This record gives sequence, structure tokens and C-alpha cells, in this order.
Amino acid sequence: MKLFLDTANLKDIQKYAEWGLVDGVTTNPSLIAKEGVSFEKRIKDITKAVKGPVSTEVISTEWKGMVSEGKKYAKWAKNIYVKCPMTPDGLIATQKLSKAGIRVNVTLVFSAAQALLAAKAGAAFVSPFIGRIDDMGQDGMELIEEITAIYANYNFKTEILVASVRVPRQVSEAAMLGADICTVPPAIYEKLVKHPLTDQGLEKFLKDWKKAKQ
Ligand code: G3P
Repeated sequence: MKLFLDTANLKDIQKYAEWGLVDGVTTNPSLIAKEGVSFEKRIKDITKAVKGPVSTEVISTEWKGMVSEGKKYAKWAKNIYVKCPMTPDGLIATQKLSKAGIRVNVTLVFSAAQALLAAKAGAAFVSPFIGRIDDMGQDGMELIEEITAIYANYNFKTEILVASVRVPRQVSEAAMLGADICTVPPAIYEKLVKHPLTDQGLEKFLKDWKKAKQ
């Protein structure tokens, strides 16, 4: 399973990219707004910081605007993926952009039927927001299971990108279900590597090593 960072913070992206395991980045308008910097420059900087896909979202709500924004973003770098919302216009834009050879990430997906439509429209990625489903008292991971089954039934090439991740456990659960990608905020990325028994074990090894014959 590929691991993406869900942030527009360049310092965090550079920090975790050094670990060598960041396969891509996802951004959205809220994450960009948090940074308070030029949108175009930040996205261009992110595309240089990681080799893999960098998703950047359109703001238009009608398909013509989405297509022209998507075409503009795609010129910024080779690893740009254009995020289109799961709306009728978003689906039209997804088809137009995909036919033009631009890879689309269909975002704000909350049902299996929506994921089916995204795949039929030719999306490269589909982004189900599992944390927001959990927030409503439902099980976001069930949606991943359903989408995985549907895509396997019809051999869709659209990759399942598990988004809106809140806790590290969701990453391993997504991997158990065979999701293609999981995107996580930097704080969760940091937690993935952590385990108190690892820290305790290392501390003891280093303490014992001081007593060992050199
Ligand atoms: O980037 C899309 C998604 O991961 C947003 O997550 O935490 O705002 O629900 P969140």
C-alpha cells in the first residue's frame, strides 16, 4: 500500500520525505488555506519535494471551470493529479480531463455508489473520507471494504485512496483490506513508527550494551 502525506506544509513534507517512504501528497483547499502562502508556488514546491503524485483540488463548481483549472494545474508539474469533487459536474470534468490524459482524484466520496461512478468516469484515484464517516457514528472502513469488492468485480483500474485518517490503526486496517493508498496527516505519520515497547526495548539494549565486553 502506498502512503501519502495529507498536508500542504512543505517543512513536514520535506521532513518525512527524508525517511524515504512518502509515496505522494494530497492537499485540499482547507490545507492550503492553513499555510497562508501562494497556492501555485506551494504546489510547485511540493511537486519538487516528492516524486509521486501530488493532488491539488479545483475550486470551480461547474465542469468547464474545473476542466480549465485542471488543465492549468497539470502544466505545473508531471506528478500533478487534479482533485475533482463528487458532483455531477465533477464527474463530467473527470471524464474530460481523463480523456485529455490528466489524472483525476475524485474527492469527497462517502458511498460505494459514488465510488462506482468515479471509476466509471475514469478517475485515477477515488478518495473516500473514512474519518468523516466515523465522526457521524458510522464505520468508514466498511466503505473501503465495499469499494474494494466493487472494483475487483469489474476490474476497475481506479486506485482506492483512503483519506480523512484520524488514527494509526486505520492505516493497517486499510492495508488489510487491500486499499491501494492511504493518506495521513503528518501527526499520524509520526505515530505510525512509534510503539512504547520499541522505545523500552531499545533503551534496555543500549543499557545492557554498556555492560557487554567490547
Ligand atoms: O484531504 C482530504 C481528507 O484527508 C481530509 O481529511 O481530516 O479534513 O476529514 P479531514
